[in-house]
Amino acid sequence: MARNTKKSSPYLYVAIGLIIVAVLLLVTILVLSVSEYGGSGESSVSVGGESAIPSTPDASQTPSVQTSSEPSVPVGLPSESEQTSPPVSVEPPVSGVGNLPEQPETAKAYERTVGKAYSIDMNPYEQYVCPADPMEYVFLVDASHTLAADFEPSDLVTIKDMKPGRPDYYSKMRAVAEKALEAFLEEGRMYGIDDVLVSNGFRSYGSQAALFNSYIAQERAAHPDETEEQIEARVLVYSLRPGTSEHQSGLCVDMHNQQNTDMSFAGTEAAKWLEENCYRFGFVLRYPEDKENITTVMFEPWHFRFVGRVAATEMHELGMCLEEYCDYKGIR
Ligand code: DAL
Ligand code: ZN
Repeated sequence: MARNTKKSSPYLYVAIGLIIVAVLLLVTILVLSVSEYGGSGESSVSVGGESAIPSTPDASQTPSVQTSSEPSVPVGLPSESEQTSPPVSVEPPVSGVGNLPEQPETAKAYERTVGKAYSIDMNPYEQYVCPADPMEYVFLVDASHTLAADFEPSDLVTIKDMKPGRPDYYSKMRAVAEKALEAFLEEGRMYGIDDVLVSNGFRSYGSQAALFNSYIAQERAAHPDETEEQIEARVLVYSLRPGTSEHQSGLCVDMHNQQNTDMSFAGTEAAKWLEENCYRFGFVLRYPEDKENITTVMFEPWHFRFVGRVAATEMHELGMCLEEYCDYKGIR
């Protein structure tokens, strides 16, 4: 028995040695493959062979932005730490990506939060699209929230993307909203939406009165047997009394690619793009088709109101119109 034990020992040592070498090799291969494919803990997503969003530095090296214009993460959106997958731009822009200077930190944070990248340089526009006080432009103008006859914003400027031939008195809006609009339409051009222009901006109390009265006269001529109340009810779904139209606030525009504000604009590529992207530039479609019972105004695919990006994004995420959102926020 003792002789048998002594004879088998060298084979045992060789076998053990081989096992140790194999285990070491396996461990080395595993370590190498982990560091190559998953070591950083991040992965990149590309669409059409191109990075879908501008590359961002490692989170641990990104300085935390504490400026007052940092957008808060709107309710209904995952915070960055809650995001489980990298953001993906669902529609890569026609051009522009890849040649951009670095976006402002707040715009980069926003792109990550909504999972969609800007295709234009937001540096000249960011402070307007996302104002320092995110709720400054969130208020209603309607029959219960009226503007005085002599109210006119002090910061009206000429709208850059105005339809040629429109009178001066329809061609202005508040400076902050005008800059945000420039960005919005510049982005649209990157997506091939290149023929949308503004037909109406600010309207004074007097202009609104003239417009409203002309519609009353038209309806009266068309419906001579109806009472004054019936005639007004007809008009009030598409034109508002002076002092109750948000055109007097200087924060909204009518824009389209038609001859006039016409329902034929609804459903066009341009109308769809504007509606789907307006929130990224601080605008909302003010009179949506599915909210007519709340706004009391018929669907207007051309009428966009500036409220600022935080509120617009929150409204977009929550599926709310401005009346619902003001109610939700306790804004009276
Ligand atoms: N057309 C819109 C509702 C206005 O008159 O303000
Ligand atoms: Zn309008």
